[in-house]
Amino acid sequence: MKNTHLKILDFLKSERNFDYSGYHFAMLERRIQNRIIHLGSITPEAYFEYLQNNPEESTRLIENFMINVSHFFRDPLSFELLAKVAIPAIIASKQRSDEHSIRIWSAGCARGEEAYSVAMLFNEYFAREMEQLNLDFFATDFDSQAIEKAKQGIYTSTSMKEVKHGLLKKYFTEGDETYTIIPELKMKIQFSIYDLLYKNSYAPSESIFGDFDLVLCRNVLIYFNQEFQKLILNKLIKSLAPKGVLMLGESEVLGDSFKEKLRQISKYAKIFEKK
Ligand SMILES: C[S@@+](CC[C@H](N)C(=O)[O-])C[C@H]1O[C@@H](n2cnc3c(N)ncnc32)[C@H](O)[C@@H]1O
Repeated sequence: MKNTHLKILDFLKSERNFDYSGYHFAMLERRIQNRIIHLGSITPEAYFEYLQNNPEESTRLIENFMINVSHFFRDPLSFELLAKVAIPAIIASKQRSDEHSIRIWSAGCARGEEAYSVAMLFNEYFAREMEQLNLDFFATDFDSQAIEKAKQGIYTSTSMKEVKHGLLKKYFTEGDETYTIIPELKMKIQFSIYDLLYKNSYAPSESIFGDFDLVLCRNVLIYFNQEFQKLILNKLIKSLAPKGVLMLGESEVLGDSFKEKLRQISKYAKIFEKK
């Protein structure tokens, strides 16, 4: 069985350039199994044959590996600490140094909920300070369909469970069963495709030089094995400005080797400052 799963992954690599080597193998196996069950619990061998004869199934399977599940203000305490501790420190340092841009990157942004949540925070808590500062906000994912959805900014109630009523009224237009981000918020963020495993760059090309004050990479590292987690983390650290802030997902753990590069700024959230 494992052998067939490997053949399936090798097939995706040669046909669709999907490099699976850095992902947790067990996670990929589970996702293949989900597709097999979805198609009527056929054998893995029969599924492999089906995959080879149906190009659209490769797309379905790769989509199944990309877990775009997210929602606005996922882990509300982390967002609160971002607004109360991390962002005020970034703004204060900009004011001291007379710099005029705050640079942000949401890496692995899925359909954009995380990036829009941060944009709402800036609007809500720092409107006065932001009269003197620009926001250069980049949000990327390697899944082109997720990026298209992020640009459209249309969501269903599953994304909305942590959105306070006042924010819902202010930043969304409500349809029958949809919630659409207002254009004023949409235009604050540049969404684009970027693979965190690209070897020849450490930040999206739109951002030109990285130098981010805040990087969010949440619930992305968990899908990678340790070697690739290190690779991605080193890239993110490189993309940060001196004293820049990195925010990870709640269940993500930093290896000891990163403790000399990053200092955790709150014990209640995975928010770190570059040393
Ligand atoms: C669970 S979502 C996280 C969304 C959001 N950051 C959050 O915490 O709610 C994981 C995202 O990582 C993206 N991803 C996985 N591998 C990637 C890679 N190599 N480069 C860029 N994005 C990747 C997936 O496409 C997916 O949208």
